[in-house]
Amino acid sequence: MSIRDQYRILEFGDLGDERGKLVVVEGNMDIPFEIKRVFYIYGSDKDVVRGQHANRTSEFVLINVSGSSKVRVDNGFEEEIIELNRPRMGLYLPTMVWKDMYDFSEDSVLLVLANTHYDAEEYIRDYDEYLKEVGGSRRR
Ligand code: TYD
Repeated sequence: MSIRDQYRILEFGDLGDERGKLVVVEGNMDIPFEIKRVFYIYGSDKDVVRGQHANRTSEFVLINVSGSSKVRVDNGFEEEIIELNRPRMGLYLPTMVWKDMYDFSEDSVLLVLANTHYDAEEYIRDYDEYLKEVGGSRRR
């Protein structure tokens, strides 16, 4: 399957008014799953690469609520780089894609919503193992 058919860019509505912006994301509505976990990443230097794993059961939506970062999404055959730079933009990632987050701006706050509680066992952190599981052929 093409990597472009696997991830999805979401655009959230703006309920703001003269008092400021307001963005609401609700599970099973704006987010294509029930939200069980929320975490956020900030204070990462420009040269840091985070992620570097695939997940067997977790789906995610990533939102740069402040600043910007880049996400490299890889399915074992091809990759795409998506820049997150707007609080109303979300990146939906299904299970079993390999992802790296990098190029964090100084003011980057990367909010992540997940459909699972944390379980270290569902992470694949070895790229060769990931390639084997998806039958992929990409070399990094
Ligand atoms: P890690 O998966 O390396 O973060 P990232 O993918 O953003 O680079 O997680 C760092 C540490 O935090 C690791 O010890 C696992 C722990 N952790 C949790 O306990 N719960 C969570 O939901 C997450 C994402 C990480």
